[in-house]
Amino acid sequence: MQTAKRFFSLEGIDGSGKSTHIDMLVRALESEGYKVVRLREPGGAKISERIRELLLDPAFKGVMADDTELLLYNAARAQVIHEIIQPALDAGSVVIADRFAWSTFAYQGYARGLGADKVHRLTELTCGGCFPELTIVLDLTVEASRKRMANRGGTPDRLESEKAEFFERVREGYLAAGRDYSDCVSVVDADRTQDEVHRDVLSLIHAKLK
Ligand code: TMP
Repeated sequence: MQTAKRFFSLEGIDGSGKSTHIDMLVRALESEGYKVVRLREPGGAKISERIRELLLDPAFKGVMADDTELLLYNAARAQVIHEIIQPALDAGSVVIADRFAWSTFAYQGYARGLGADKVHRLTELTCGGCFPELTIVLDLTVEASRKRMANRGGTPDRLESEKAEFFERVREGYLAAGRDYSDCVSVVDADRTQDEVHRDVLSLIHAKLK
């Protein structure tokens, strides 16, 4: 996959601390003078946010076909690349995405069982060269993730309401990505203090921005 400089994504199962670490990372980079564009996936552009509503609606649990899910995540991504990511990269900004194509690899490819080949082919079509030069996976056991999520409360969306086995497979997918694509995926142990995790995240990003 051809990658785009200054484009980064953070990945992980729910509760892995992505949002907190993106907050910390964006603050750190901005204080160093970088212009940073941050977005979440699926989402980040109006059309992509509308697709997100469809994807996460609990009413479609057991109704939405796996291929529909795969295509909708890619449709949301195509729009946010077109409208937000590519223009920001062209303007010299750093782009930080809360999830991107490695989510599709882990959730649809691994956990739904659609397979890496199919996901990669579609990713190529959707992203072209607009693919993160580095993705950081915040790794956490499913048990630790469940504990953190239970403390948060709220009604689970369609994906969050999947069983623990589903998330075990998601985690396996992320670890496989870190093993097989180590040139652009780094796995960081998220079961440590916020400061320790942040230090690792920042030094991985600094190494790419040099
Ligand atoms: P979020 O709640 O972390 O914003 O992510 C939305 C959900 O969508 C989350 O459960 C992960 C899932 N997801 C996929 O299954 N495939 C994808 O390609 C993306 C980006 C997210």
